[in-house]
Amino acid sequence: MGCCQCQGIEKMFDKKTALKELKRYRKKGPQKTTRMLLDAIRKNGIKGSDFLDIGGGIGAIQKGLIKEGAANGMNIEASKAYVEIAKEEAHDNGIAEKVKFRQGDFTTIASDSDSADIVTLDKVICCYDDMSALVGLSSGLARKIYGVIYPRDVWWVKIALPILNLYPRIRGSSFRAFIHPTKKVEEIILGNGLKPYYYATTFVWQVAVFTRDG
Ligand SMILES: C[S@@+](CC[C@H](N)C(=O)[O-])C[C@H]1O[C@@H](n2cnc3c(N)ncnc32)[C@H](O)[C@@H]1O
Repeated sequence: MGCCQCQGIEKMFDKKTALKELKRYRKKGPQKTTRMLLDAIRKNGIKGSDFLDIGGGIGAIQKGLIKEGAANGMNIEASKAYVEIAKEEAHDNGIAEKVKFRQGDFTTIASDSDSADIVTLDKVICCYDDMSALVGLSSGLARKIYGVIYPRDVWWVKIALPILNLYPRIRGSSFRAFIHPTKKVEEIILGNGLKPYYYATTFVWQVAVFTRDG
């Protein structure tokens, strides 16, 4: 991957970070917001569905959706290290047959990516500078359900952002986190024909699920 943010992603989401994340996941399960997203998606009915999990990390969403009855899916993930760990984890959990993996920047490979019943981005929008491309292309691929978790654009999160971005700076990474305006994110999703289905917040995050009629 050539772009500055993508090189930063490789450095930020490296093997060490992936293994740390996996250890936490094995001990405690999915994060609270991920559980909220999975619950909301499940309530819409997912038996036999296929999914596209973008920036799927170590695979919490993928495992969750398969467990809830999804038939199969694809993880498009920018970090090589995360793809490797997620593949191993899928194998260890007996779901390797059901999840395919593709490494790369979703926005550059979206044009030859298949649509899916369910498209998810769990804490990915905040990791990418070109929000319009990421959200526009991904929501366009959602046939039934589109679920996202991203930071709230409220003052207390905005204040924390420069402090959070000190960490990649210290590590010498070009990666930066972003707080994209909620209104713009929603405009793009609604503009792609999706309708609000579920919305909840925690102190930092917003969890939003949209559905497509018909
Ligand atoms: C904060 S992590 C979240 C991982 C996982 N979804 C979770 O919640 O545990 C963000 C992930 O998104 C990936 N990512 C960011 N931008 C991406 C892009 N344009 N295409 C594919 N993956 C991307 C990163 O490599 C990283 O693994």
